[in-house]
Amino acid sequence: MQEFAGKTAVITGAGSGFGREFARIGASLGMNLVLADVQADALEATAQELRAAGANVLAHKVDVSKADQVQAMADDAFKTFGAVHLLFNNAGVATGGLAWEQSLADWEWVMGVNLMGVVHGIHSFVPRMLKQGDRCHIVNTASVAGLLSAQTMAVYNASKHGVVTISEALFHDLRVTNANIGVTVLCPAFVPTGIHQSERNRPADLHNATEPTESMKAAQAASDKAVTSGKISAAQVAQMTFDAIRENRFYLVTHPKILKSVELRMQDILLQRNPSDPFSYKKDVTFSVSQG
Ligand SMILES: NC(=O)c1ccc[n+]([C@@H]2O[C@H](COP(=O)([O-])OP(=O)(O)OC[C@H]3O[C@@H](n4cnc5c(N)ncnc54)[C@H](O)[C@@H]3O)[C@@H](O)[C@H]2O)c1
Repeated sequence: MQEFAGKTAVITGAGSGFGREFARIGASLGMNLVLADVQADALEATAQELRAAGANVLAHKVDVSKADQVQAMADDAFKTFGAVHLLFNNAGVATGGLAWEQSLADWEWVMGVNLMGVVHGIHSFVPRMLKQGDRCHIVNTASVAGLLSAQTMAVYNASKHGVVTISEALFHDLRVTNANIGVTVLCPAFVPTGIHQSERNRPADLHNATEPTESMKAAQAASDKAVTSGKISAAQVAQMTFDAIRENRFYLVTHPKILKSVELRMQDILLQRNPSDPFSYKKDVTFSVSQG
């Protein structure tokens, strides 16, 4: 996709982090914006900022884990702007802890937002994008957690591995049907955003009934440190993403040093060797957890 002015972008998770930066770039390129987020005040702040900058903005309070809410937003987007050209399935949340200590509520919440959110976006937008026939592009935000399997992140890893494989299959499905839609799977490492404070948007019915375990606290502390000390900004990640859209590039790994760990994992699989520590190259990230 090369032309952006006058085209329409839909962005989930637009109230903060990467989503807000995608929206800012979209506005600067003259795009119409459909902004979605579950956090109403953050959504409204982004919408107000970009309306003041001159963009046409449709803001929808949407929980992407709910198919009917994503469908209603899609209906409104097509009704308001006539077409959708760029879809960012980006909203996401994170939890951590030993695999057997993470609750079923953790699984339901994270898989609902990170995995089913992407599924709902594809389901509600792609058929109508195909009918349009003009050039479109879909960006699914996964993570390096979709290419690796770090300790204390089973739930988040599963959701993001799911996003990577859905994106790869979507790429092939669009290819074999000669569709005019490109796909990018965005796989960042740690970037300073609100992702380590995801609990702020956890629905009441999916709160954990018990206090966090030691492993959950350790995972939260490690995530606080790693996310806040990330060296690449959300704005830089968004710029790299628009570059990938222009180049029709599928894989976008924003922190290429991590590819060493991806290669190690691939070698483990090819050699049928037991899994290596994915963070062995990065001594400042420690996820050691003592069992209390
Ligand atoms: N920041 C990182 O280090 C990092 C690394 C890899 C991948 N990611 C991924 O990037 C994406 C964006 O996250 P971010 O880092 O910008 O974090 P962020 O918390 O700043 O932004 C995420 C946005 O998603 C919204 N959201 C949460 N639950 C939602 C729901 N059910 N429906 C709709 N919106 C919802 C939040 O309100 C927030 O505005 C996520 O998918 C995340 O998993 C982040």
